[in-house]
Amino acid sequence: MKDENKTKKQLINELTELRRNTNEKKKTNEEKKEIEKGYNKLRLIFEETVDALSSVLGQRDPFTQNHQRIVTKLACTIAGYMNLPDDTMEGLRLASLLHDIGKIGVPTEILSKPGRLTDAEYRIVKTHVQIAYDILKKIDFPWPIAHIVLQHHERLNGSGYPQGLKGNEILLEAKILAVADVIEAMSSHRPYRPAPGLNKALAEIKKNKGVLYEPEVVDTCLELFNKRKISFEEFQTKSVASMGSNFES
Ligand SMILES: [Fe+2]
Repeated sequence: MKDENKTKKQLINELTELRRNTNEKKKTNEEKKEIEKGYNKLRLIFEETVDALSSVLGQRDPFTQNHQRIVTKLACTIAGYMNLPDDTMEGLRLASLLHDIGKIGVPTEILSKPGRLTDAEYRIVKTHVQIAYDILKKIDFPWPIAHIVLQHHERLNGSGYPQGLKGNEILLEAKILAVADVIEAMSSHRPYRPAPGLNKALAEIKKNKGVLYEPEVVDTCLELFNKRKISFEEFQTKSVASMGSNFES
């Protein structure tokens, strides 16, 4: 009888414990859902902030805004084939969409000058990375957006700007952005020159693989165009989603 009571008591304790666990689990699930909801809302706010910033530049310089869009698709496609984690890809995507935002501080006469830039004008153009950094560092993004943008003209051997960073001092996202930027720039017309073309752009990154550009990024980019036969026009027209990546721009 004593043992039977003990068993009943144990049973009650176990049931109470079970109920408590179930309630806690329910609470944890609800908390998880709340956190996820908050995170998604925050992501949306970041998206809208980036869109707003990008359209400010577009009002003044639609050419650069279009360049940013194409570079974003290319950078995300390269990163996708490199199997970068989703979170890193998201940071790269937003940084790419804003990478030339600093041109807002460069006079339009220089940006749209039909001839070659003088050394003094080129020095002014180069300030766009620092201007962008100063704008973006004020936003507390959960990704190193301001630094990726600041570093997109740095080169592996230290010959880039603004800091002359070398090798691993440069963020991987900035190295991907650098290659995508060069490919887009050389494949498109500029006010001061016709487009050298995609083949010359691919030859440029191949020649400077390991010197100016990160080898893995170069190999992935070359594979994309040479083996997978993706054309540059696809980056100009299609969304990234339709090109086999989850990242739309
Ligand atoms: Fe740039």
